Amino acid sequence: MHLHSNSPGQTAAIAAGLAACLRAGDVVALRGELGSGKTVFARGALAALGHRGKVCSPTYSLVVNYHIPAADLDIYHFDAYLADKESQFLAEGGAELLGGNGICFVEWPERIAQFLPKEYLSVEFAESGDAEARTLRISGAGERCRELLQQFGDSQRFGRESFAAASSSGNGGRA
Ligand SMILES: Nc1ncnc2c1ncn2[C@@H]1O[C@H](COP(=O)(O)OP(=O)(O)O)[C@@H](O)[C@H]1O
Ligand SMILES: [Mg+2]
Repeated sequence: MHLHSNSPGQTAAIAAGLAACLRAGDVVALRGELGSGKTVFARGALAALGHRGKVCSPTYSLVVNYHIPAADLDIYHFDAYLADKESQFLAEGGAELLGGNGICFVEWPERIAQFLPKEYLSVEFAESGDAEARTLRISGAGERCRELLQQFGDSQRFGRESFAAASSSGNGGRA
């Protein structure tokens, strides 16, 4: 599935839509160059999942855990930019968190490929034209990813249809 984003806010909104489909155990790999929008995406997803507060880039902390009391949910935000340090952390037990009891977002997943679970969702960011334009390619193998992609695709289509219906009813796009 390919989506276009024209601003950080749009990337966060796409992330929020995907987050609504996620459940404990899901792993989302965020691929793309430095500055492509991986942390913006994670921040949007975390906000939608109920996190109130800052989301720092976990480059030096290797993983940051966010607990959402209202949903009794743990979210783990990994960053494998420093591949050696992250690999060491994962080899020493950190890997149990990947696909474990929480939802995981992983930046630079290709640097710790051997620790990723068999099935996970990928969001691949590419810059496209304008400084703020990005394409997001969302893909994944296996039964759970198929279900996720289906549910997320339906929600995107429904969002567009209700927007179009509201626009044509003349209230400026507000449902
Ligand atoms: N469409 C967009 N989506 C996400 N970020 C964007 C977009 N357009 C511009 N940006 C900017 O690009 C940067 C992305 O930073 P960040 O998410 O930290 O990148 P990464 O984690 O991939 O290294 C931010 O400064 C953000 O404001
Ligand atoms: Mg980042």
